[in-house]
Amino acid sequence: MRILPTIYTLLLLLFVSCQTPDTDYSRERISIDFNWKFIKEDVKGAEQANFDHSQWRQLDVPHDWSIEGEYDQSNPAGIAGAFLPTGIGWYRKDLSIENLQKNDTYIVEFDGVYMNSDVYINGQHLGNRPYGYISFAYDLTPYLKNGKNVLAVRVDHSKAPSGRWYTGSGIYRHVWLTKTSNIHVAQWGTKVTTPEVSSEKASVQLVANLNNTSGKTAKIELVSKILNKANEVVGTATTTANIEEATEITQNFTVAHPALWSPEAPNMYAVATEVYADGKLRDTYKTPFGIRSIELKGSKGFFLNGKSIKFKGLSNHHDAGPVGAAVPNDLLYSRLKLVKEMGGNALRTTHNPFAPEFYAMCDTLGILVMDEAFDGWWTAKAKFDYGNYFDTWWKKDLNDFIKRDQNHPSVVIWSLGNEVRGFTAEQQKEIVEFGKTIDNTRPYTQGSGYGAPYIDIAGFNGHGEMRGAIEEYHEEHPEKAIIGTEITHTLQTRGIYRTQTWYRTKDNPAPWEKPAHFKRLEPKVFKIPNLSEKEVFPGITKKYQSSYDNSIVRIGVRDEWKRVQSYDYYLGNFRWTGFDYLGESFGWPGRTANFGIIDLAGFPKDHYYLYQSLWSDKPMVHMLPHWTHPGKEGVKIPVVIYTNCESAELFLNGKSLGEQKMTDESQIVFQVPYQKGTLKVIAKNNGKAICEKEFKSAGEAVGLKLNVDRQTVKANRTDVIQVEVSVVDVQGTMLPDAANLINFEVSGPARIIGVENGDILDLSPHKVNYRKAFKGKCLLLLQTTAEAGNIEVKATAKGLQEEAIRISSAK
Ligand code: GAL
Repeated sequence: MRILPTIYTLLLLLFVSCQTPDTDYSRERISIDFNWKFIKEDVKGAEQANFDHSQWRQLDVPHDWSIEGEYDQSNPAGIAGAFLPTGIGWYRKDLSIENLQKNDTYIVEFDGVYMNSDVYINGQHLGNRPYGYISFAYDLTPYLKNGKNVLAVRVDHSKAPSGRWYTGSGIYRHVWLTKTSNIHVAQWGTKVTTPEVSSEKASVQLVANLNNTSGKTAKIELVSKILNKANEVVGTATTTANIEEATEITQNFTVAHPALWSPEAPNMYAVATEVYADGKLRDTYKTPFGIRSIELKGSKGFFLNGKSIKFKGLSNHHDAGPVGAAVPNDLLYSRLKLVKEMGGNALRTTHNPFAPEFYAMCDTLGILVMDEAFDGWWTAKAKFDYGNYFDTWWKKDLNDFIKRDQNHPSVVIWSLGNEVRGFTAEQQKEIVEFGKTIDNTRPYTQGSGYGAPYIDIAGFNGHGEMRGAIEEYHEEHPEKAIIGTEITHTLQTRGIYRTQTWYRTKDNPAPWEKPAHFKRLEPKVFKIPNLSEKEVFPGITKKYQSSYDNSIVRIGVRDEWKRVQSYDYYLGNFRWTGFDYLGESFGWPGRTANFGIIDLAGFPKDHYYLYQSLWSDKPMVHMLPHWTHPGKEGVKIPVVIYTNCESAELFLNGKSLGEQKMTDESQIVFQVPYQKGTLKVIAKNNGKAICEKEFKSAGEAVGLKLNVDRQTVKANRTDVIQVEVSVVDVQGTMLPDAANLINFEVSGPARIIGVENGDILDLSPHKVNYRKAFKGKCLLLLQTTAEAGNIEVKATAKGLQEEAIRISSAK
């Protein structure tokens, strides 16, 4: 049970009641995520202040009602929306405002509501926003009163499919309430650029947009300070001006010996701005930024701080497995850390703006972002998608999107669309030119937009994976840089192995691919040799894909990375995709297509390590497949090794099977007649052992192993605990094919927010206390409540020893 009012409500009451007319204003921005009322239906009059919502369900946002529902083939979201429900929902929240003063300004900010939201305060309509991925804000001030106020939000996701891919439904991102004065920095009202950057000094420019809604001309003073990581002031500027309704003020600074931002050293600065009017502080505003230079030198490449850099990127969709679109910050952060640990340096936000915290995390972790505004433009791609609203809304949405994200050093490329249907060169010109009026410091691209000349970088999706495609384009456009916006597409299911190469177009065609399609494509597909003459692992459903680098669409990972390394004009690539995402399966009962190198539960597949061997400098070795193959005694199993070391020696039950040097193929293959026991690889440089990996053959399942990502958490209704559950034998070795049903008992101050196993065909619900293991494991996600105490998780499965863990949650 939750205790009301929460600490946040108390804080809100406190800060609004302490203000007297003459005191200074420091901007206060608080989370209003907690204690919303919700109903999943359309209700007449629910916008009215006095509407009785006491019977509605109470919940916290971010909230996604689609992921709470059942997978059902008849749901109109269909393949695109992973067969999950959509519909209409209402949210209401009481806001207590006391001692309201005439100089106060209150602004509510929604980071994202999917979709078609109508927001009301005390029955007054504030606005409608069709685009479900855009952040937006409303000024509440004119309609507020002392005491209780009611914010109401109607979310209309009744028409589906409304996007590609899984969208979620509801207030699925954070909500904020800001209090400042009537003379203040506008929404996303600062732009910080670094026109000149060297290791000796950097010039920094701040353009601040100020609003004055006091109705009188104000004599203001804008005082800005640049703060370094240690919070020391390294630059200052003061400007005075008379402002009527709105004005723009530019300030210039020089920072000596700046700590430059890069993926390796993500150094951040901030501009702290104060607005004074008539000697009183009227607003404070902080803009985090980084000092770095980016330069696109056409076909010579992309330069960061004067050095050429290649994009080691992944395309990702915004959802995160069992929580759908409502992704807690902790989960997002751990996902981004996985990308970093793999050696990835870039992410593309396919095909829409992500949550604001994503960009802040990329800033501090050091991840380059290709920030994508839209999927399609004027022509809808999914029947009811944003294309139906594009004509009316694109300028407003693009403006808000760029303004929101433009101060992030991580954002280095804007992408304006993806496989846009039927676009013309004039349309591309109009959108690029409009974008450049807002931000002209970064290059613009478009996924598969190379058919028209107005983008700065030619973005290639699947077509670029065909033999000769990017080379031909380069011959015709020798000055233009090319980037793989969706390259490589390979498929794989965690724990599944096939030793013969599969071409999606031939062996497992997508619904739109016919045998003739492959014939046409065959000469252009990069071939990968089979790993065995006869399939070693026959009889696996076609819906699952092999985890060797041999389940390909057009090009495998290894051939693709060779291309990136060979051509200066090829800036790098964004693999399709990093994480498995809901939607875009090859049909019922699939809920994802398995393009990710990390599954829906966040468990890395073997490709994760293949990329790590290519992209990371930290010594590593990985081996596949696992070593539990009863019944295959004596059968030659291809053992593939990924390493960034020079050579690898393989041992079976302590006996060396030889040492091999890394090949031009970026993998080492041993053919090992199966014998149960211990398979161990030692990777070496200069003959010296550097790292190793070992697999043991598992015996019978006897119990469960619980691995938790953290031992202590905060009792804040926000922190997330990830519990990885494996089915193990008596030695603790995971059974790689285990599919036991596991039940969870959670006691103490936490609640289950999701269960998942990464199986694309498992359509059981996510907000329950059970899950089957898939390929040996599954995931339990918990979120803390507001109470401190011990959280106990007990996992049980029929015929296996139970296992329990305890995590402590503190205030
Ligand atoms: C592309 C599309 C992506 C995804 C991918 C899968 O055509 O832009 O959204 O569908 O194909 O192959």
